[in-house]
Amino acid sequence: MRAARVALVGVHGFGTHHLHNLDRLHAAGVVELVAVADPQPPAPESVPETAAVFPGLPELLAATPDLELIIVATPIQTHAPLGLAALETDTDLYLEKPPVASLADFNTLCEAAQKSGRSVQIGFQSLGSHALQAIEELLASGAIGTLQGISATGRWVRDRAYYKRSRWAGKRSIDGVDVVDGVATNPLAHAVATALRIAGARTMDDVASVETDLYRANDIESDDTSVIRIRTAAGLPVTCA
Ligand SMILES: NC(=O)c1ccc[n+]([C@@H]2O[C@H](COP(=O)([O-])OP(=O)(O)OC[C@H]3O[C@@H](n4cnc5c(N)ncnc54)[C@H](O)[C@@H]3O)[C@@H](O)[C@H]2O)c1
Repeated sequence: MRAARVALVGVHGFGTHHLHNLDRLHAAGVVELVAVADPQPPAPESVPETAAVFPGLPELLAATPDLELIIVATPIQTHAPLGLAALETDTDLYLEKPPVASLADFNTLCEAAQKSGRSVQIGFQSLGSHALQAIEELLASGAIGTLQGISATGRWVRDRAYYKRSRWAGKRSIDGVDVVDGVATNPLAHAVATALRIAGARTMDDVASVETDLYRANDIESDDTSVIRIRTAAGLPVTCA
């Protein structure tokens, strides 16, 4: 099998996890990291010597033919333009979560994905867990009875340092551009996505209602103390807090 030609956009922050993972996959002969893009140059030796370094995705795309996958691990407000630009180049896209900052942008991204015919995966890594399939099998076999509801509780404390780490952390918008970075849309979104998967809710039509209680203890624009109550179209309650 030939190694897939991959580019990574955003090499600091969570991008460093992608670099480690790409290193592991390269050693297994699965991928070749051919280029990275970030306005802040990568740390010395963090990127393979063979990977070209660019200040942004446009420069990377102009100089890098035949990519098969682009990974985008940048701030939320950049996901829509970078994700759409990636899909225009006929590559698969791995876009960090949360995918985009609004439902309108989500619909635009879905349309672009459909038009491109390429795969788009969002960085909700728990959806790749074997545990989910095992739970589905236990449910289907009746081993754990009838599902009455799903709840998930996140008890991580996000302190001042967390919200000071990046300009966009805890922001609703920057210069009029939606960011919508809060607990509900960012860390807790892993639990929401996983719960919806277990609930069998795959599309917007599978969700009947969403209610939120959003509070903040930190001096931020968005929520850091949050409750999300969802009812699926099948009537199943999902509560994440
Ligand atoms: N899947 C997970 O568990 C997980 C965990 C943490 C963060 N994330 C997600 O990863 C994304 C990045 O988060 P972070 O905490 O690393 O942010 P960050 O701000 O720490 O780092 C983002 C990186 O992107 C670069 N960047 C910014 N704009 C860019 C652009 N236009 N083109 C190229 N590079 C650009 C920055 O210079 C920086 O290196 C977010 O969507 C976040 O929600 C996912």
